[in-house]
Amino acid sequence: MAGCGNENSENGAESNLTQTGGQADQSTNHEQEGSETENQESPEAVSEPEQEPDMETKTLVVYFSATGTTRPLAEYTAEILDADIYEIVAEEPYTEDDLAYYTNGRADQEQNDPNVRPAISGSVENMERYDTIILGYPIWHGQAPRIISTFLESYDFSGKTIVPFCTSHSSGIGSSASNLHSLCPDSTKWLDGERFEGGTSKETIRNWLEKRIMTFMKA
Ligand SMILES: Cc1cc2nc3c(=O)[nH]c(=O)nc-3n(C[C@H](O)[C@H](O)[C@H](O)COP(=O)(O)O)c2cc1C
Repeated sequence: MAGCGNENSENGAESNLTQTGGQADQSTNHEQEGSETENQESPEAVSEPEQEPDMETKTLVVYFSATGTTRPLAEYTAEILDADIYEIVAEEPYTEDDLAYYTNGRADQEQNDPNVRPAISGSVENMERYDTIILGYPIWHGQAPRIISTFLESYDFSGKTIVPFCTSHSSGIGSSASNLHSLCPDSTKWLDGERFEGGTSKETIRNWLEKRIMTFMKA
């Protein structure tokens, strides 16, 4: 299935992949464990299952990553926030030639036309359950790739908060985020975005989240 960019949930919080199929299968082995064991004297063995804390997250990390630079930063973000994660995957995958910039290839042409909306494969299930979207993308010609516009026009972001971040070779986030604002309703709240270089550490992402986002979430 397209969009599964979330294999490495190292120690710490596991991020939850959300892509058409939604939540990971939460079934547990409790029953099997119980039926196979011979040691059934203890009445406690059949008592209430352990109470799980309510892990329902209201934050969704969304990212597009054509060459894999933005992906790990999105994954760190989801792990740190214990958020769900969704990868924007182009219906027509970008080839190396498509991405060779300043060749008038596909990506160049898309960036030259603000009205282009490359199709996305798959969708976010239950977008209404999220109130904060962390949105990661690479800078393409100083802007967000047009597929980010497709994404923003595909859902109702009324009343939600969007926190953009980007990776780039050298450009800053510039106007790439503010140029997306008009694609969402006025009631969408946009926090300031941040640019990271490739290979940014999880610690740096944690510091950013603590400074900018966790404070906002607590407010
Ligand atoms: C079509 C295209 C245009 C790009 N334009 C810029 C740019 O204007 N400034 C910049 O610093 N990097 C630019 N880059 C480099 C990417 O922003 C950078 O490699 C990014 O980290 C890639 O992220 P990804 O691997 O997650 O797709 C461009 C890359 C492509 C493919």
